[in-house]
Amino acid sequence: MNEFSVSAISPSNIAIVKYWGKHGNQLPNNPSISFTLSRCHTETHVKVTKNDTGNYALHFLFEGKESPKFQEKIEKYLVENQQYFGFLKGLDLNIESSNSFPHSSGIASSAASMSALVLCLLQIEKTVNQNVTPLDMRKASFLSRLASGSAARSVYPVMALWGATPSVSSSSDEYAVPLEDIVHPVFKTYHDSILIVSNKEKSVSSRVGHSLMNSHPLAEQRYQTARENTEKLLKVLKNGDITEFIEIAEAEALQLHELMATSNPPYKLMEPNTLKIIDLVREFRRETKVPACFTLDAGPNVHLLYPDADDARVKSFIKDNLLQYCHDNQCIDDVVQNKTNL
Ligand code: PMV
Repeated sequence: MNEFSVSAISPSNIAIVKYWGKHGNQLPNNPSISFTLSRCHTETHVKVTKNDTGNYALHFLFEGKESPKFQEKIEKYLVENQQYFGFLKGLDLNIESSNSFPHSSGIASSAASMSALVLCLLQIEKTVNQNVTPLDMRKASFLSRLASGSAARSVYPVMALWGATPSVSSSSDEYAVPLEDIVHPVFKTYHDSILIVSNKEKSVSSRVGHSLMNSHPLAEQRYQTARENTEKLLKVLKNGDITEFIEIAEAEALQLHELMATSNPPYKLMEPNTLKIIDLVREFRRETKVPACFTLDAGPNVHLLYPDADDARVKSFIKDNLLQYCHDNQCIDDVVQNKTNL
């Protein structure tokens, strides 16, 4: 075959127990657990043509336009991890990628984009080597991790655990494992309404953020808390205790931002409207007993998490009380990815 094409769609994910701090070649300093989203995703197509140079060449377009920054990132990844990509020799790759979410929404896209790329690369490997076995998702997670840590978790539906933790014997720092089979049905119905407080690029990249943890005075304490929260959350995910889920999720989100605020140099990633929304969510929960809670990524946007049973009430709360604090009234409605909505 002198020419063929492969494609993949891979979603974004939102961590409940956060990964913040790494060592070695993209190894996490603590385990993390995330929900896999379904509507925020990257779609990647690769047209593969054989060349006779014995080398590979790539050309990358993001949403139809050249993106030297992303092209360089991919080239660097392929060079640094060339021992896994020998099958690319003698191939020209024309890569086209696009996101389902608006470019200027402040949503981090590296988990979705890097895992989508890896899924395409593995399909190329299968085609070149005429291998008919299904894709090895553990390998997909491993290679995604090398591209962008949190991308390791995006290859599985529902929820994933990345990082070794005592109660899950298959867990590893090298790749994520799926949690779908242990998760209580209520968590499979979760919504994530992403309240876009700001659409600006993050003021600190996650690469810089992770490195700040190397000299952070609270680092060891943080890793210990995250390890404990991972074990607690695993129990909660099995027994469906939403009250405890809320405690862990909100504490983890605030701790991530406290770590940033107390690093050297310090970073303040929340905006006044982030705090306004957090207060309103807590007040809404207290008054209505609807178990909606928030989490945050390394930025000002608020992820509002709630079970499907409360969808109508939460949606009207968002419309009446929260949208006014969002940039251009922007909110992205996402839901946890199940096999049925893949
Ligand atoms: O995958 P990275 O290196 O972009 O780091 C992601 C870090 C957080 O999004 C803040 C937390 C997480 O676990 O996803």
